[in-house]
Amino acid sequence: MENEVKKNNGADQEDKENHEKEKINGKTHVQGQVREYKPLLEKERVEYAREIFRSKGYAEKWKKLSPLFLKAKQEKDLNIKEIQEEIIKLKKEKEALILAHNYMLPEIQEIADFVGDSLELAIKAAESPHQLIVFCGVHFMAEGVKVVSPEKTVLLPRLEAGCFMADMINISALRKFKEKYPGRPVVCYINTDAEVKAESDICCTSANAVSIVKSVNSPEVLFIPDRNLGLYVQRFTNQRIIPWDGWCNVHHRFKPEDIIRLREKHPDVIVVVHPECSPEVIDLADEVFSTGGMVKFAKESPHKKIAFATEEGLVERIRRENPDKQILSVGSPKTCVNMKSIRIQDVLESLKELKYKIEVPEEIIEKARIPLIRMLEISRGKEFTRKIFERHQLPNIKT
Ligand code: 13P
Ligand code: SF4
Repeated sequence: MENEVKKNNGADQEDKENHEKEKINGKTHVQGQVREYKPLLEKERVEYAREIFRSKGYAEKWKKLSPLFLKAKQEKDLNIKEIQEEIIKLKKEKEALILAHNYMLPEIQEIADFVGDSLELAIKAAESPHQLIVFCGVHFMAEGVKVVSPEKTVLLPRLEAGCFMADMINISALRKFKEKYPGRPVVCYINTDAEVKAESDICCTSANAVSIVKSVNSPEVLFIPDRNLGLYVQRFTNQRIIPWDGWCNVHHRFKPEDIIRLREKHPDVIVVVHPECSPEVIDLADEVFSTGGMVKFAKESPHKKIAFATEEGLVERIRRENPDKQILSVGSPKTCVNMKSIRIQDVLESLKELKYKIEVPEEIIEKARIPLIRMLEISRGKEFTRKIFERHQLPNIKT
């Protein structure tokens, strides 16, 4: 991994000064105080976002997804039990493993072999001996599974299930970013396409982002694509984090006022937010967790009234699993239309017709697997990755 940090031009100096103003170490911020954070890369953000949205047909995609989501809601009168039984039968016959992200519809979570956050799902898929995986989540997650286990058949029940944040950076934008800040290692959030991972040094998820960045032996790192997660990590390290200006259109919509109002009504509430929320929201929270961390916290915490700022499907799951606690949503419930575009009947079709197969070009797999395995090595240890290497006959990685 390249560690040498070269001096750069005036624009870089300006970013550095902004960064010094914004930097907050650890917990030194004042709880309850609303701060204003100025975007570091405002010009680039607008420019790249426009370019990427256009090239990905983003507006069209949005139009297509919204009715799908509504349809999924209307189709509640389908015989869900019958469909679930058929899925379970087929799953056995085909020896398939069904993985579901925490944001999936409840009827999908019920038939899954495992439900979890993006890191937990990546680990489950890597450990599993199953050759057929039906991945109920979004495209970059299924692609990540294919990259780590290229010999497996990985199915995504709906190809439209993408991620708006992952679409905010592509290979040419990343190359320009690296040219602007040469010599800095790239830490890429798992919410990226395989092509982008292939140009990055190490991957992270929201569950391990702080330890992954700290593991990188460099005083400055580029962090893509989520600016909010990058700024969150900045609180815990003296390394300079230079974030890309992407965001999640679910988590970025939570506002400080949502928490202020909630606390006025429920002074005894504990507020838990996802690190994809804005820094202003994070400042007002009691706890910050990945989706898997939220599930664990809700179970283990002695608090009886907990509010979550995350996708509503997860809040519903936590509510179901903790009937003795009052589980609230921060502000109005927010939904990821990408995740919710997968319906139970799509999972059945996927298993029946073995669709849609995730394909990634071999040369991308070779490069993209390196940052993913580096991450798994830090999260799970060398012994874990060595086992996967042996079973999947992966080449050794030089770091
Ligand atoms: P987790 O890693 O917490 O599952 O988050 C993935 C994601 O896309 C959250 O919006
Ligand atoms: Fe992407 Fe946000 Fe949906 Fe997560 S919630 S999959 S980051 S759009």
